[in-house]
Amino acid sequence: MIQENIEPCTLALFGAFGDLALRKLFPALYHLHAAGLFASDSKILALGREVAGEQPLAVIEQALRRHVPEDELDAAQLNSFLARIGWLNIDFQDSAAYAALAELLDAKAPIIAYFATAARVYGAICAGLASAGLAERTRVVLEKPIGHDRESARRVNQEVARYFPEERIYRIDHYLGKETVQNLIALRFANSLFESQWNQNHISHVEITVAEQVGIEGRWGYFDQAGQLRDMIQNHLLQLLCLIAMDPPSDLSANSIRNEKVKVLQALAPISAENISQQVVRGQYVAGSINGKAVPGYLQEDNSNANSDTETFVALRAEVRNWRWAGVPFYLRTGKRMPQKVSQIVVQFKDPPHYIFAPEQRPLISNRLVIRLQPDEGISLQVMTKEQGLDKGMQLRSCPLQLSFNDTYRSRRIPDAYERLLLEVMKGNQNLFVREDEIDFAWQWCDQLIAGWQRQGSAPKPYPAGSWGPQAAVGLISRDGRDWYGDF
Ligand code: BG6
Repeated sequence: MIQENIEPCTLALFGAFGDLALRKLFPALYHLHAAGLFASDSKILALGREVAGEQPLAVIEQALRRHVPEDELDAAQLNSFLARIGWLNIDFQDSAAYAALAELLDAKAPIIAYFATAARVYGAICAGLASAGLAERTRVVLEKPIGHDRESARRVNQEVARYFPEERIYRIDHYLGKETVQNLIALRFANSLFESQWNQNHISHVEITVAEQVGIEGRWGYFDQAGQLRDMIQNHLLQLLCLIAMDPPSDLSANSIRNEKVKVLQALAPISAENISQQVVRGQYVAGSINGKAVPGYLQEDNSNANSDTETFVALRAEVRNWRWAGVPFYLRTGKRMPQKVSQIVVQFKDPPHYIFAPEQRPLISNRLVIRLQPDEGISLQVMTKEQGLDKGMQLRSCPLQLSFNDTYRSRRIPDAYERLLLEVMKGNQNLFVREDEIDFAWQWCDQLIAGWQRQGSAPKPYPAGSWGPQAAVGLISRDGRDWYGDF
């Protein structure tokens, strides 16, 4: 990593003993510390409810031992990292408690207030920080989900905006911090090769798949209120769609990129309640098996409500209504308990306008760009070649031009998304964060789908855990004469 001058700060981590902080944020901060990227005068203040009977630092240490691979955890680095952490047992809703918080802070250093809590307390935390006179020197980082729909998201955003200007609000979508997602920007805008092809004249369709093997992992209470559309499509998949579909920004600044993304969200064609059953498939997993091991269905998970009709899978066909993309479907698919964890984008190019080879070889013709976001990060471009050999005549063969990030950057571990995002907040760079209007338009589009489902009143379609979702998801794409591209 390039060493950069990063201003010392205090990172006030609200919700420091919750799942996200222990599983993702502390490990990411540890890695930044070990890489020398967490300025030496910076401190971390862990804020949250005391874990009964446990020393707060011991809880954090245990989490690091569990979530940082053993060969990346150095004893001396671990000790010096833990020495940078202070903590305070605080009720976020109690405005009087913020005076005690202010006393623990360096009088001048900038503050990064990271809200790893439920969005309903964001307003109270902002008010508390302001009442203690801390707001002026604070950047706030908001975790998703922001709201449950457009209206509630607006409420949360307005509460935060009462105390903080947009330039100091960092809304997280952790997909934007993934190395390979950032590579989409490099791939599209640092190569002239693709841009000339990147439109409805040359692209037949785009597929975006974000499949997970895990089920609900003890998060039933949260997930059942949300469902896969709110949990994954509203944010991660729509952000990926924006990065693929947006026009070239005039520069790399946060606002130039966000302006282009917003135009894509605004151009998403609404899906009417009448069309929803043709264009959107909702699924819910039932018992099945993953890697040969039997796993329960969604309705049998711990703490589940046997009557829930929350979806754990969504596949849909979206269209971006503009000159560039007119008539090009974007097929989005995401689900829990799929056979594999894989996130990938497939850009399928149109066939050549005039075909001159043997008729039986015609189905082979295919130029396809596959961008693998995780795992086995890389890019592969499928091109047509001729089989080698005197005996082969003009026999065609489809071959990949392949770039594996692992092989190419062999010496580097791929940093976790949260490392990059925390670093960018420390640098005060907003371009990997989501602006208020992006959230707003993404909710607007998702709200109409939810309203359509409600009007339609049908239950999600069952699919066995360990499968690629309900059969209807195949129907969704095969009606257009296509298949989900599956090399996994
Ligand atoms: C989170 C969702 O935002 O993303 C989770 O709330 C999901 O339900 C997770 O499991 C997936 O992230 P990743 O980085 O593992 O693909």
